[in-house]
Amino acid sequence: MKKIAVVEGDGIGHEVIPVAKHVLELLHPEYEYFPVEVGYGRWERTGCPCTDPDIAELKTADAILFGAVTTPPMKDYQSVVLRIRKALDLYANLRPVKDGGFDIMIVRENTEGLYSGIEESGPDRATTLRVVTRKGSERIAKTAVRLARERGGRLTVGHKANVLKSDVFFRDICLAEAKATGIPCNDKFIDALSLDILQHPESYDVVVTTNVFGDILSDVASYLVGGLGFVPSANIGDRYALFEPVHGSAPDIAGKNIANPIAAIRSGALLLAYMGDKSGAERTESAIREVVAQGIRTRDLGGSAGTREFGDAVICALRHGQ
Ligand code: NAD
Ligand code: IPM
Ligand code: MN
Repeated sequence: MKKIAVVEGDGIGHEVIPVAKHVLELLHPEYEYFPVEVGYGRWERTGCPCTDPDIAELKTADAILFGAVTTPPMKDYQSVVLRIRKALDLYANLRPVKDGGFDIMIVRENTEGLYSGIEESGPDRATTLRVVTRKGSERIAKTAVRLARERGGRLTVGHKANVLKSDVFFRDICLAEAKATGIPCNDKFIDALSLDILQHPESYDVVVTTNVFGDILSDVASYLVGGLGFVPSANIGDRYALFEPVHGSAPDIAGKNIANPIAAIRSGALLLAYMGDKSGAERTESAIREVVAQGIRTRDLGGSAGTREFGDAVICALRHGQ
């Protein structure tokens, strides 16, 4: 039996994940769904946000549906989501941003770069080492090139090679991989790219970049589709996979039933595609479109539907659709 770990996390994770899970349960009642509690709430309750047994439990799942965790601004508190990405070696973070006129796939390296975790902080100086390895760059370059080939598209490498040696290294590996496989490719400085993607989204297809640039670029690009409530993501490794919205725990709106659950539902759709159910993924996407077209919208889209009401409408569309 296929096993899905469900991690609500914190904040609006408790609101949007039940909606996404409900959709998965409707389409796949035969999967086994099991909850795993990690995050800030868990830390408050037990003094530990995520244990080794939690990681081991997550590894027993065929796929993980994840909400978001709150990262408290404390010394020595390691972000739970970063720990999971590293522990499960989820090196490719795929963040699709698409709408009528454009279809962009942001491919973010997910295990190294500025998040390599090699840091020190003293009274007068703090340093963070940005480690970009050949292995890390080659595997993300191969993922991005494969996606560009599947989509019949083009690769853009986002970097800051005008300043950073680690990005000269990263850029050259990505360009070499594209050249070796005959994929059309260009590159752009990440600052210029961040504006250009907003002005000319239709000229982008697959964009590959390092960890933190990809983090920032995906929040920026979410503007194109209505904001953070809309963009899902897949964190994929060779053995494990985790699906989560690009947004965080949104403490400013948590507990009010106003969060947009679309990013979470779409993350569930990416999970279905990963599990081999492409048609379930497409049905989920079209149910979301249908509900939005009916004028049922959450507050971020100018509507008044609550998180639960939007979710119920999607369930209803799925029940009555094909
Ligand atoms: P955020 O993404 O949680 O929120 C940014 C803004 O977008 C907020 O105004 C929020 O209300 C809005 N927003 C986000 N999701 C929304 C949704 N579904 N519907 C409507 N509005 C939405 O980012 P933040 O406020 O910078 O971070 C909050 C916490 O989440 C921090 O502790 C951060 O570290 C954490 N975080 C976790 C993850 C993760 O676990 N994957 C991702 C990002 C941020
Ligand atoms: C994301 C988040 C995380 C990141 C934080 C919470 C560590 O912003 O998933 O986009 O920086 O990767
Ligand atoms: Mn982010």
